[in-house]
Amino acid sequence: MRYITFALAKGRLANKAMEMLGEMGIFCEEMKDKDTRKLIFVNEELGLRFFLAKANDVPTYVEYGAADIGIVGLDTILEEGRKLYEVADLNVGKCRMCVAGPLSAKELLGSGKLIRVATKYPNIAKDYFYNQLHQTVEIIKLNGSIELAPIVGLSEVIVDIVETGSTLRENGLEVLEEIVPLSARMVVNQVSMKMESERINAIIKGMREVIEKRNAAK
Ligand code: PRP
Repeated sequence: MRYITFALAKGRLANKAMEMLGEMGIFCEEMKDKDTRKLIFVNEELGLRFFLAKANDVPTYVEYGAADIGIVGLDTILEEGRKLYEVADLNVGKCRMCVAGPLSAKELLGSGKLIRVATKYPNIAKDYFYNQLHQTVEIIKLNGSIELAPIVGLSEVIVDIVETGSTLRENGLEVLEEIVPLSARMVVNQVSMKMESERINAIIKGMREVIEKRNAAK
């Protein structure tokens, strides 16, 4: 029996994903050791392997079949635009992709003016401004602390994730438009879905049951 391999987005999401997998009887003792430098973890009994990767790389591993299943945020899935099947909404890691900035920048949206947009998500930003607002903009790619950009005059607005809204609030910025609601998703390699359909469908079914149970308990 070959291993079914999971790629998990490093960080909070991986912990939540392992918790949900645990609720359906999928676990990995090796992974619980917080000090380990190991990169890949195995549950021989279940024929499963797990690895943690940078969120942006998870869709890449899954598209190429280096992982059969990935768990990653919809933000990353949309940004990376990889060929994969999205099979479940885990209903955790909920937040929103937004255009944000000072309130005074709201009138610039859809105005036809050439504005600068700072973001970690250039593809999502491009798609929103070009295809939804029909506005040509200059996209400036940043790698973190995006909220700084309008404060120091790098851009008029930003496209970024808003969870609690406190980063925006504490920096005098506001949500100007909501682009899309986000949450963690399970994705599957397109070939694995056919070649390992029985085992993968059992995992998808198990995950959907966990999601339903959790929703009913809310
Ligand atoms: C994310 C996002 C916002 C913040 C939103 O940043 O880019 O900055 O969280 O959360 P809030 O609405 O609850 O304040 P992250 O902490 O991942 O770091 P980064 O800014 O370095 O990307």
